[in-house]
Amino acid sequence: MTDSGMEAHRLAGTLGGELSGIDLSVEQNEEQIAAIRAAFRDYLVLVFRGQDMTPARQVAFTRLFGPVEPHPLASRKGIEGHPEVLVFENKRGTAGARNDFWHSDISFSATPPAASVLHGRTITPGYGDTMFCNMYQAYDELSSGMRKLLDGLTAMHTSAPLAERNRSNVSDGLPIADVPPPVEHPVVRTHPETGRRALYVNPYFTSHFKGMTVEESRPLLEHLHQRATRPENVYRHHWRQGDLLMWDNRCAMHYAVYDYDDTKPRLMHRTTAGGDAPR
Ligand code: SIN
Repeated sequence: MTDSGMEAHRLAGTLGGELSGIDLSVEQNEEQIAAIRAAFRDYLVLVFRGQDMTPARQVAFTRLFGPVEPHPLASRKGIEGHPEVLVFENKRGTAGARNDFWHSDISFSATPPAASVLHGRTITPGYGDTMFCNMYQAYDELSSGMRKLLDGLTAMHTSAPLAERNRSNVSDGLPIADVPPPVEHPVVRTHPETGRRALYVNPYFTSHFKGMTVEESRPLLEHLHQRATRPENVYRHHWRQGDLLMWDNRCAMHYAVYDYDDTKPRLMHRTTAGGDAPR
């Protein structure tokens, strides 16, 4: 138990913490905000059970971590009056657009979001888990030679796979007309708050290392992704209705398990807090 009245407990070996004793539907005091920030730095992924947040409250909570932004490519519809609250919806006749790939949200942007907040409004118990992995750990575990090599590299990130995914007209993804040019990010970034180094490539948006071909880049990227996502470095979240999760895109990747069809309703509200250009 902390001074803020909250209790924290670890959910997995390398990341994930549950915070209890807090109602996010009302404004937090300074002590609570400080405790949430500290836990976020320690656990990378925070779980709050049994919440019931209006879209406006979700936006206000997200804003504690950075400016709340709509999706830069309008990849999903937003809530009426709240375009910055994205609706992820799986229901009869309309499948939720898939996110069953490891990624860091919107890494194809020059300034990708620092944090994402996902509120489970409708859950079919047992389906649609979300997995997370720790990218500090993925970097720390590499040999000194590999860390040195990667420290000097940058990589290209593109939204082309998202545009491709949204071309399907039976999902809740919206068509993306213009795919912006790829952006270049360091392969290893320094977290602006913790000062720790984290691997910053992902299997979905990172196409290749700058100065190398896609083909040349593939074996090393695959090795890094495989190391990052090994089971010992993963927390798998089993959703319950009312869960609110937040994760740090600067040092964690995530993967939405797609083990359901349109008979298993799933409705999530996602907001993102803007971040800096990775460096
Ligand atoms: C996401 O990839 O941001 C969504 C994850 C999920 O729906 O579980």
